[in-house]
Amino acid sequence: MAEATVTQPEPINRREFLYYVWGASIAVLLAGSGGAILWFIYPRFREGEFGGKFPVPLASLPAPGDAPVENAAGRFWLVTTPAGLVALYKVCTHLGCLYKWVPNNDRFECPCHGSKFTKQGEWIEGPAPRGLDQMAVEILDESGSVIAITDDEGSPVPIEGAASIAVDTGVIILGEQNA
Ligand code: FES
Repeated sequence: MAEATVTQPEPINRREFLYYVWGASIAVLLAGSGGAILWFIYPRFREGEFGGKFPVPLASLPAPGDAPVENAAGRFWLVTTPAGLVALYKVCTHLGCLYKWVPNNDRFECPCHGSKFTKQGEWIEGPAPRGLDQMAVEILDESGSVIAITDDEGSPVPIEGAASIAVDTGVIILGEQNA
């Protein structure tokens, strides 16, 4: 009776082993870089989700002199000043309570420890260390390009020429420190 022959696979040599290790390293590196690029390309928050951008209908803007308009989901108050629009972050700069608009006093007041702020968010009195923080207001033209945006000082943004407006709740501009 003929004897069956069994062939063993050839063991890989050192050069092939190093080649496979090198290929695997490159694959891991590329996967990591690709993930990082996607992380930066795609916004982490969707439109209309806190942390993302909130479209603001032009018709919903308060007129200069009107009471601020609250956006509960975006956690901001919109205020139209003679110089333009500001979006005030709804959280008190003392210990994080939600302050309220008090129409009779024409100012914001915090129920927790009594800090008070003007309609533009400037500190008046109380333990808060600075004025109210803001979110970035973007003024967009017909093509959707940003033509004006809140600066680092939180100056009101003129709305002339606006085709649409958005508030970027992912960009917080700290209020002015008390003197
Ligand atoms: S949290 Fe607003 S005054 Fe303290």
